[in-house]
Amino acid sequence: MNLFVMHGPNLNMLGQRQPEIYGTMTLAEIDAALTERARSAGAQLQSMQSNHEGVLIDFVQAVSSQADGFIINPGAFTHYSLALRDALANVQVPIIEVHLSNVYRREPFRHTSVIAPVATGQIAGLGWRGYLLALEWLLAQRSDTKWR
Ligand code: DQA
Repeated sequence: MNLFVMHGPNLNMLGQRQPEIYGTMTLAEIDAALTERARSAGAQLQSMQSNHEGVLIDFVQAVSSQADGFIINPGAFTHYSLALRDALANVQVPIIEVHLSNVYRREPFRHTSVIAPVATGQIAGLGWRGYLLALEWLLAQRSDTKWR
């Protein structure tokens, strides 16, 4: 099983970035926890982060034919990147959208996700463990073809 984790803009700053909202775990620590959990379940997991919309789109296009699932925190692109949404709309495997913070109790502009309609599901507000929960779901349904 081949899983990909994508982090959008400013998530490279985790640990220092508004820790009262995003927590104190660094991105490297989150990725290490995900990699370790995937390894223990016999799955391969590769993470990437970019501050650039086109780099995220290029990555989706490059790996989607070999992917069994995606976990993506698109950062602020969540709220307006139709180009990233279009790239993800062409993906044939599950996509879990993750947000560290509960975007629905923050500023109104964060209440809209243009990614959610092309995602399989969404986890928001559970901090870094939201990524781990997304991973558990992907691992659990690997033989279940009912869900996209
Ligand atoms: C975020 C929420 C977004 O609104 C914000 O732009 C981010 C992080 C989250 O993980 O809570 O960069 O996706």
